[in-house]
Amino acid sequence: MKTARFTRIVLSCGRFHPKKTVTRLALLGRWYETSPMAIDTSGNGVFSEGRAKLSARTLRTDKWWLQPLITVVVLFSFIVYATFRAFENGKYFAQPLISPFYSPCLSSNCQKGSPSFIGTIFGTYHLFGMTVSPSLFILIFPLAFRMTCYYYRKAYYRSFWMSPPACAVAEPHAKYTGETRAPLIIQNGHRYAFYAGLVFNVFLTIDAIGAFRNEKGQWGHMSIGTLVLLANATFLWLYSMSCHTCRHTVGGRLRNFSKHPIRYKLWTWVSILNHKHQNFAWISLFGVALADLYVRQVSGGSIRNLYFF
Ligand code: FES
Repeated sequence: MKTARFTRIVLSCGRFHPKKTVTRLALLGRWYETSPMAIDTSGNGVFSEGRAKLSARTLRTDKWWLQPLITVVVLFSFIVYATFRAFENGKYFAQPLISPFYSPCLSSNCQKGSPSFIGTIFGTYHLFGMTVSPSLFILIFPLAFRMTCYYYRKAYYRSFWMSPPACAVAEPHAKYTGETRAPLIIQNGHRYAFYAGLVFNVFLTIDAIGAFRNEKGQWGHMSIGTLVLLANATFLWLYSMSCHTCRHTVGGRLRNFSKHPIRYKLWTWVSILNHKHQNFAWISLFGVALADLYVRQVSGGSIRNLYFF
């Protein structure tokens, strides 16, 4: 009975595991049930009563560590790059292009001509002899949106906290408290971060439309920068529209769909996107970094923004 349940646990992740590994796990689980070997059952995590009594952290023989490792490398690289750019406080605007890390630019020390949309609501502040970058006033919102994203949570819980690092690989923590108390209870605010993210998507879309101008501000032109900002805005919309919160917002809290045909239709569309949320999460992450890098290179004079017309 327990062996059967254990086998189901291994398979329920939906991923393929070699039959040999599953058989080994089942045999070991059965042996440990009658073994006098001491297993710590004091915790409520991997050593709890209901779990298979295995002393080994995992019996997987495939490269289960590869995916968490890649996640760490990519996310850490993005964090380093974004932090550098947020504090660089320069090379973020080259008419008509504005970096997504600095839009809207709400500080009085913004580069001349950069769009603020809602006015200059922050002054120029100094901290430790440095001018506070305008990026720091706004990045908290997209950052909160990504950090509380259900997909990213899975990714960084697994890769950074090893909680657990992979399917059928036990986590090193003895206890599991989930997101029911501080600090992780804050993850429940994802819906508000989602709403804030939508506002930023609107700003970045306006930036992309504004990129149909030339350096003199005349409309009716298109450059590589236009495509870069358009692609960035599109990926961000796809990321937001595929969000689980978006799906719940359009189709949740209903007793039946028959009386809400429009919401049902929207829910089916969002559900289709929702299946690809993981892909949009990564693509939009690269998109925003590459869009910033492109604007930085143009603004710094390293490359020219080539115009098609
Ligand atoms: Fe990923 Fe909402 S679940 S953005």
